[in-house]
Amino acid sequence: MKFILTGGRALEGSMDVSGAKNAVLPIMAAAMLTSDEVVLEDVPDLLDVTTMRRVLETMGARITRTGSALRIQAPTVPSAEAPYDLITKMRASIVIMGPILRRAGYIRIPPPGGCAIGSRPINWHLKGLEALGARISMDHGFLDARAERLRGARIYLDFPSVGATENIMMAAVCAEGTTVLENAAQEPEIVDLANFLNEMGGRIRGAGTNVVQIQGVSSLRGATHSIIPDRIEAGSFILMAAACGGDVLVRNVIPAHLRPLLAKLQEMGVSFCEKDDGIRVWGEGRLRAVDIKTQTHPGFPTDLQAPALALLTRARGTSVITETVFENRFMHVEELRRMGADIRVDGRSAILRGQENLSAATVTASDLRAGAALVLAALTAEGVSEIRNIYHIDRGYEGMEAKLRGLGADIRRVPAAEQPENDIPAPGAAERGNKLCLLPR
Ligand code: UD1
Repeated sequence: MKFILTGGRALEGSMDVSGAKNAVLPIMAAAMLTSDEVVLEDVPDLLDVTTMRRVLETMGARITRTGSALRIQAPTVPSAEAPYDLITKMRASIVIMGPILRRAGYIRIPPPGGCAIGSRPINWHLKGLEALGARISMDHGFLDARAERLRGARIYLDFPSVGATENIMMAAVCAEGTTVLENAAQEPEIVDLANFLNEMGGRIRGAGTNVVQIQGVSSLRGATHSIIPDRIEAGSFILMAAACGGDVLVRNVIPAHLRPLLAKLQEMGVSFCEKDDGIRVWGEGRLRAVDIKTQTHPGFPTDLQAPALALLTRARGTSVITETVFENRFMHVEELRRMGADIRVDGRSAILRGQENLSAATVTASDLRAGAALVLAALTAEGVSEIRNIYHIDRGYEGMEAKLRGLGADIRRVPAAEQPENDIPAPGAAERGNKLCLLPR
């Protein structure tokens, strides 16, 4: 599928942010820690959620969706064999390691491998699980992790990895004794996972700081939990509104999660204000160039680097954007150049000289956030752009084109003339009777 987008319209109106992809994926995995039913509310309808659902179902969970609520129950000890095709498709599925290891005492899982934005190893996940007592080996391309018992430990992460922090928290929540995790990731999604685990009966303190204490409990029970709003979706729409002018209210946001972005918007001269029900952004003239360096939370999020870069292609002056979290996250630059952007990449930095206008072009999304960057650029460009490989966008943005159309954008989803091997319909397409497979083979 592809988007056909006619740029140059101001965005007007309001939109609602969906539940956070990066919060719901580990929380779905955490539901495997109990035999009771878990109810998750505000679950976005995303391709990645569908993939995680399939992973968990393959391993023995029963899952049903009603509207935005997901019911998950794993009544018996889950299968320890993680499905190769699904795990290698979505790196985030590595977070099932901690919960399955704890529940089944064993997991056999293929390493998730790299992706377009870098090699993305999992050494810190493994280091943490080993410290808790897991024995891990490689066997015919699979990781074998075993632990009859998990014991609390003091673990120092060399880098505050989000996934490693989540995996360790989920393995340690029912370990014997106390785990102290130092240099832990502090992202809001970590806090949401800790809150959920505590609602299940866990004893976790300090989530959201760089030291998390996990006092092991003997078992967890079912719980009902609402997923936090997606700060990256919110940020992407705020950036699109800033790029297009007009007047947009982005609803269902937690402003505290957006501080690093809002600080940069202020430097750029974007007009915005916090309202009771969201953040209002309105456009007034050309923005100022700024320098941005991505960092772990509470620094500027790497997931907003691409859309922020797209916005700055039209700012007045020269911006320098430095990516410190991932090694290869400038794949969108080449595509933005096709639209007339003046960008040079030097190592981990992109140097942008702002242009007054971009021109419409046919471009291809290389990953999820690169896709959002191209949509932003196309919204502002003169003429009709085509954005290809939008299955990347469907991985993490619920109904992006419907939300943009609601704000007055001229955007349509159409089948690509030649369906690329990986191109797949939007989430929910199967339920609507589409005969195509939901997931790439
Ligand atoms: C999560 C988010 C992703 C976000 C990223 C950083 C989910 C599903 N995804 O990804 O959207 O961009 O946090 O905020 O929540 N690393 C290692 N060894 C490890 C683990 C990580 O070298 O064992 C490296 C990675 O290659 C990367 C950096 O550490 O360069 C950050 O990775 P990490 O924080 O683990 O990100 P994810 O959990 O994969």
